[in-house]
Amino acid sequence: MFKFSLSPGPPFEEFYVNQKLTLTVSPEDLSDLPKVIHVRIREMISNTMSFTMLVDILDRDDDISLTGTSTFFLKLFDRRFSKAFRDQVPWSTARERAFVKAATIGREGLDGFVFSICALENYREQTAQAWTVAQREACLAVDIADVYYDELSVYDALQDFQGQSIPRFVASLELDISPLGVDVPPRDPNAAFATFEPFIVKGILLERIEGFTLWDMPDRGVPRWQWQGLVDKARRMLDILDDNEILNMDVQPQNFIVAPLTDKPESTDDYKVYMIDFGMCRFREENESNLVWSVAKNTYNGDGRLFYWMNIRLEREGFVLRNDGFPGYRPWDPSLLDAM
Ligand SMILES: Nc1ncnc2c1ncn2[C@@H]1O[C@H](COP(=O)(O)OP(=O)(O)O)[C@@H](O)[C@H]1O
Ligand SMILES: [Mg+2]
Repeated sequence: MFKFSLSPGPPFEEFYVNQKLTLTVSPEDLSDLPKVIHVRIREMISNTMSFTMLVDILDRDDDISLTGTSTFFLKLFDRRFSKAFRDQVPWSTARERAFVKAATIGREGLDGFVFSICALENYREQTAQAWTVAQREACLAVDIADVYYDELSVYDALQDFQGQSIPRFVASLELDISPLGVDVPPRDPNAAFATFEPFIVKGILLERIEGFTLWDMPDRGVPRWQWQGLVDKARRMLDILDDNEILNMDVQPQNFIVAPLTDKPESTDDYKVYMIDFGMCRFREENESNLVWSVAKNTYNGDGRLFYWMNIRLEREGFVLRNDGFPGYRPWDPSLLDAM
């Protein structure tokens, strides 16, 4: 029988409040954090694509938080618990066992498979029916790591906006979920498929923004007469993406945070709006023509979508959202969603 324990030891469940995690700062990271940090989960926030939470960085004694600014937002890209990635195939220890076996004893075979799904066109569609459990897990590991790399590159490209329009990027991190008692072969640094690390969960640590999403704004005490201004502020932020040739395929009111700057905000200037969540972004390709690029932008129509959803949200409160001052606006057609 092939035996192993799941790290950090059974019974291993989804992340939970007060759990301590040991995270390694990624090799490519340029922050001045120590190589290894320990955090304690303060609050769980969401589990859709990624697992998100507020964490406190612990000091050397491992339990007293550093004072002041020790709370951060942590986003983990974990194939095991990603609801969006796994609606058909929930994670289980049995699946993990099969994956561990293939990733250790049969590592070469799995590496070959990963190479094929990454490098060969149509390979996925043609073979997916016959994939083993381990191959499916490997594919999820690759795909979720891609989401991480996409988000990382957007933070990198938008350095000038960090701390202003988007959260400050603190560090890229790795969580080791190697099974205990099993030797995972080291990764071949020359492998053509650099993103496949079966038991490394990638993560990003961001400045924590205290506020609420744009969607939740009406429930969070923002006076009605501020609503229009704050929605407009969010819509104007989309220019930052355009100017930097970034296409965000996931523009929605939940991906903006409204942060009151004072206890008694009196004007829209007393709120900061942050754009977040760049996991579903892509950059304009080097040779991408104006036509192809603008078709792609029109298809996802971030501004139209944001207006569409905020209009629905505010209509519920009997509020009519105006569209003045947005000459580029094109209405979002929700039936397009089915076509995508
Ligand atoms: N820097 C942050 N500080 C505080 N809360 C955040 C921060 N970034 C995101 N959130 C909250 O966490 C939720 C999920 O984060 P997001 O990046 O959108 O991940 P997902 O890919 O799971 O949608 C957001 O809708 C928002 O409520
Ligand atoms: Mg989101």
